[in-house]
Amino acid sequence: MKNYKYRHISVLGKEIVSALVHEKCRLIVDCTLGGGGHSELLLSSLPEEACLIGIDQDPVALDAASARLSVFGSRFIPRLANFREIDKVIKEINEGAPDSILMDLGLSSGQLDNEMRGFSFQKDGPLDMRMSPNTRKTASDLVNSLSQIELEEIFRDYGEERYSRRIARSILEARYKKPITTTGELVNLIVDSVSGKRGKIHPATRVFQALRIAVNDEMGSLIEGLTKAIFSLNKWGVIAVISYHSLEDRIVKKEFMRLSGRCICPSGLPLCKCGRELLLELRSKKPVLSTENEIKSNPRARSAKLRVAMRIA
Ligand SMILES: C[S@@+](CC[C@H](N)C(=O)[O-])C[C@H]1O[C@@H](n2cnc3c(N)ncnc32)[C@H](O)[C@@H]1O
Repeated sequence: MKNYKYRHISVLGKEIVSALVHEKCRLIVDCTLGGGGHSELLLSSLPEEACLIGIDQDPVALDAASARLSVFGSRFIPRLANFREIDKVIKEINEGAPDSILMDLGLSSGQLDNEMRGFSFQKDGPLDMRMSPNTRKTASDLVNSLSQIELEEIFRDYGEERYSRRIARSILEARYKKPITTTGELVNLIVDSVSGKRGKIHPATRVFQALRIAVNDEMGSLIEGLTKAIFSLNKWGVIAVISYHSLEDRIVKKEFMRLSGRCICPSGLPLCKCGRELLLELRSKKPVLSTENEIKSNPRARSAKLRVAMRIA
């Protein structure tokens, strides 16, 4: 993948540094290294003796970020892993419990811009969408093997796609004739099946998001990784999570609420018996959003929501 370049602009950079670089900070884990932009900002703001572990499941991203961050020498510790294994990574590196943890979810621009990765509906390429080469099934495997109901559920649950049934049916019809193997084929099929029903966004946006989430089990990784990350934190350690769609933000909000002692069970009572643990203190109830200025220079920031919490026990 020689043409692979990182042009990723980090979202909410200042807010991340001010949340995560605190007086006692000696070890940070960046669970989503990507282009290394946040890690670079953090390492530049930390004292000389502090280090940062950078995790990414994408070896291409890890290599590119490692080259960018090589100026920090042994202060930067790269690891190829899924952040759902953050506990194992921390144990293996043996530098103690982290004082800050960052999760900047989703894809980087470098991944999206490379048509060979299959994430973009704007560029023709193989229908892959795997962030990690160790992931067994590609988007093409799912599209060509799942039942109509399974596809419909993925498009509806992960993409909130209004025409999920119609699109799933078109996929089944098309794949009887020939397997769907490229992003271009899938885009044409979606556009044809919802013809005349264009909204504000491209008709393939939601299906592509849904397939990417399914291929990479993004919700499963977030649920498992987030809890493990919180439990790995040092006392007074801080966790910051940037999410880009409501499914992710809902998971983060619920877990932060649960572990900060706010009741999330249906009774809604402040002191009910839902078995919550008081582990976190929320920095604010509402998420931090990007400013108009940031959105102007980085449209990706438009949908970003940052939630920050501190480990108090
Ligand atoms: C939005 S980008 C991060 C950008 C980065 N913060 C920066 O400033 O350059 C998200 C990165 O997280 C990685 N990623 C997503 N889910 C992951 C997971 N479960 N485990 C490890 N890495 C993951 C992706 O491969 C991608 O490189």
